[in-house]
Amino acid sequence: MNFWERHFEERAKKLGELPEACDHKDRIAFLATRNALKSLLEEIRGKRILDVGCGNGIITEFLTASNEVLGLDFSFSMLKMAEKKNFIPILGGASHLPFKSNTFDCVLGIGLLQYIENEAEVVREMARVTKPRGTIILSLLHKNSLIRELIEWTGKETLELKKFSLPQTRGLLKTHGIGKISFKLLSYPLPCSFSRFPLPLVTTFLVKGEKIA
Ligand SMILES: C[S@@+](CC[C@H](N)C(=O)[O-])C[C@H]1O[C@@H](n2cnc3c(N)ncnc32)[C@H](O)[C@@H]1O
Repeated sequence: MNFWERHFEERAKKLGELPEACDHKDRIAFLATRNALKSLLEEIRGKRILDVGCGNGIITEFLTASNEVLGLDFSFSMLKMAEKKNFIPILGGASHLPFKSNTFDCVLGIGLLQYIENEAEVVREMARVTKPRGTIILSLLHKNSLIRELIEWTGKETLELKKFSLPQTRGLLKTHGIGKISFKLLSYPLPCSFSRFPLPLVTTFLVKGEKIA
């Protein structure tokens, strides 16, 4: 088991169904991310969805009622909780997705890339298994955030996590054949998201793109 596998196994066992098990700072941060995700997905039904790094399933559970949702995670204990929420559980790593190309209408990676050593490899895999004109949504920690620096400075964030800028993310997606890119910006502890916001105040963002046919 590597460091992060152990980290999430332990959090799953200790914190169970809580948002904090999946490293959401608190309930406000969790709800803000989930609302932003809902607004990006709008009315989605009857689709085949892959949630890479699904965790305990709390953030994407709302999709399982009217879609087929596969949840992939390397933590067995996280997957057990997701399975109870009607995810189809797949135990595995994000760098080698065990699916044929062009399989899913929508592929999600919420709070995933900050733990990944080679993010290009994961984005390539996510793009590969997405159907042409299908949707990819990621949520990422923002690199140039004064608020995040302040949180780290006060010692509230002790883990070494990867952060991304908006142009870097746009480039990463474009390189892997993802276009029509749009962003939702979040500023903790505000409970909502914005299409435009002063970038130094943005702590997290969601990015949505479409696989170019
Ligand atoms: C921060 S949690 C986010 C969970 C969920 N997406 C959410 O937002 O509530 C990250 C999840 O990704 C999983 N994970 C991290 N790196 C992974 C990898 N390389 N392969 C598969 N799962 C991974 C962890 O086990 C954990 O459950």
